[in-house]
Amino acid sequence: MKPARPLPAVMVLAGALGILGQSRAPGEDAVPSLAAVYKPYFPVGAAVEPETLSLQGDLLAAQVNSLVAENAMKWQVIHPRPGNDPSAYNFSRADEIVAFARQHGMRMRGHTLVWHQQVPARLFRGAGGAASRQEVLDRLRDHITTLLTRYTGAVDAWDVVNEAISDTGAWRTDSPWYQAAGADLDNDGIPDYIVEAFRFARAADPSARLFYNDYNIEAGAKREAALRLVKALKAKGLVDGVGIQGHWSIFGVQPEVVRQAIRQLAALGVEVQITELDLSTYQWGDSSSRPALAPDLERRQAESYGALFEVFRQEAGPGGLTGVTFWGIADDHTWLDAFPVPGRKDWPLLFDVDHKPKPAFWSVVRW
Ligand code: XIL
Repeated sequence: MKPARPLPAVMVLAGALGILGQSRAPGEDAVPSLAAVYKPYFPVGAAVEPETLSLQGDLLAAQVNSLVAENAMKWQVIHPRPGNDPSAYNFSRADEIVAFARQHGMRMRGHTLVWHQQVPARLFRGAGGAASRQEVLDRLRDHITTLLTRYTGAVDAWDVVNEAISDTGAWRTDSPWYQAAGADLDNDGIPDYIVEAFRFARAADPSARLFYNDYNIEAGAKREAALRLVKALKAKGLVDGVGIQGHWSIFGVQPEVVRQAIRQLAALGVEVQITELDLSTYQWGDSSSRPALAPDLERRQAESYGALFEVFRQEAGPGGLTGVTFWGIADDHTWLDAFPVPGRKDWPLLFDVDHKPKPAFWSVVRW
């Protein structure tokens, strides 16, 4: 936008010094908005915490039009105490994120209702030891009903079940949910807790789009298992979308494999989203650490992101890819600093630790 009047001298000076947010040195490019560039394709989102809204608020407001809570809506955080009274819940962190999204006209994904991690162990305990299947399902219904009722209209898509399939493609039998209510009493081929979770969610907010979300479902036995699960849930009218998490590495990501998975999943009549995108700069299984992101890896990351987003644009549309959410926005806050090697710095996102666009950013917005 051109200023209508000449700028006051102080602003010209601030601009030349790079103090103003939008200003830049001659020859430097303005930083476009991911959300604006991708408007014709799909919403672009980021996972956030209340703390990152303070640390990265300007960047988030400028770059994305969708948010997801990195942790604030997980059971352990939002429902830390037993029972289902309001006093059992801690909505404050989630509410902060919802308020930010509202203020900036962003949509929100809800993450996540059923997961084997970040869930209190007491949920699976009863009076005489292990809780009964019915007790656990009752607790699940109460939890889902409370959250979906509270966030109706604010959260339009929920990751109802997260990571229910193991890496071999079998059901994840080490999940406490599976152990408590994983039997398939109605013989529909799906552990009952999964179907029940989707039923509870459907009943609590019929307007919400319900997702199954998982990692590594783009290939191999895990993809086949995800296809079977989603097909069966879809036949019951219980699922609307699948989230491919997208925690990949610059050494392993295979955009064409992702394309095929998007097509196969979408062919079941559900939407597909990339829900937790980041590209680690380490090879999976490598536990070494580097002091900084070397230029060759930075370039490799840019190429990988560029190739992925080319696929994303080509697969975008109502019967295909309907959203891409990053698991963070800038390298000063990433879960990969703690996983899989605690304390090791990683640089998986499009903006650097100073919130400056990386080569990867430019390869995503320019093609
Ligand atoms: C991660 C968060 O980013 C961390 O802060 C937390 O300590 C553990 O969980 N798959 C998921 C996300 O579905 O919920 C996980 O988020 C990352 C892997």
